[in-house]
Amino acid sequence: MRYLILALAALWAGAAAAQTPAERGRYLVETISGCGNCHTPQGPTGPLAGRALSGGNTVEDNPGFTAIASNITPDRETGIGGWTDDQLVLAIREGKRPDGSLIGPPMPIGLYRGMADADVRAIVAYLRTVPAVHNKAAKSTYRIKLPPAYGPPVGQVNAPPRTDKVAYGAYLAGPLGHCVECHTPMLEGGRRDTKRIGAGGQPFNGPWGTSVAANITPHGVGKWTDAQLERAIRTGVSADGRKLFPPMGFAYYAGISPDDMAALIAYLRALPSAE
Ligand code: HEC
Ligand code: HEC
Repeated sequence: MRYLILALAALWAGAAAAQTPAERGRYLVETISGCGNCHTPQGPTGPLAGRALSGGNTVEDNPGFTAIASNITPDRETGIGGWTDDQLVLAIREGKRPDGSLIGPPMPIGLYRGMADADVRAIVAYLRTVPAVHNKAAKSTYRIKLPPAYGPPVGQVNAPPRTDKVAYGAYLAGPLGHCVECHTPMLEGGRRDTKRIGAGGQPFNGPWGTSVAANITPHGVGKWTDAQLERAIRTGVSADGRKLFPPMGFAYYAGISPDDMAALIAYLRALPSAE
């Protein structure tokens, strides 16, 4: 327990502004952004030891595509070790690889476009420090047509001030944590229904069967206490005591700092109630 608290304290310290970029990046990647929830291969008992962020696992297999996670460790041959910082920033935030090809779904590029410059650079700084794993990931297959780009060049992005809890919570639930990617229903044509952010309904298939994204607007969780919301997000236990199914990255969210958790909850409470 003592070690857990020390480890969490080290992560939470990463949420403070006076951290090195790599420490801030570690906090983001290992908690709210949960890159490993897609990029780390999983066995029956969780993430495979020694394989963190090395990809090769099928993230999603549906009629539109078979998406296989890339190796984002610093291995020069099979990972991103040969990419420059700017190339990595462009890949994470705009979905463009150095060879000009586009990174496909479900990597949430549409939301990552809103990552602040300092945060995406911190993520890059941290990725440089993780152990290089030699693992050639197979290529994804996209049967749907990918767009030529996810939008115009992003330019400069700043995070909202932390003093504005709801705005900072929106930044956490969107560009950093992509909560709204899973929890917002899809319109026909594959766009998110921005009028019903957080209304849930999207099904996720996996070894656990099918889980359906919950409604996390006040319509769904308005009667929950802050403590119940925090417990659900950090440990995957719903208000009624039910153990929630994947693919939500509870193990990552356990390390979200108390301030960031408070901002996330303030944002969920401020969402327009939607059915
Ligand atoms: C929801 C799943 C998901 C999440 C979350 C996710 N990724 Fe990805 N990512 C993917 C998939 C799938 C691909 C490969 C897509 C393809 O083949 O076009 C990918 C590709 C990439 C690539 C391109 C690498 C290459 O060699 O082509 C980079 C870099 C990357 N991700 C970084 C990140 C970082 C950093 C994070 C966290 C901030 C992250 N990803 C979060 C699913 C995800
Ligand atoms: C990869 C998809 C995904 C992401 C990302 C995700 N969730 Fe979830 N979430 C789900 C699914 C699916 C469920 C329902 C699981 C079940 O019913 O067993 C769920 C359940 C919940 C619940 C419990 C609601 C209830 O009625 O039991 C809360 C609260 C929640 N999510 C909040 C969040 C927040 C906050 C974030 C971001 C920090 C987030 N989720 C990110 C997929 C996701």
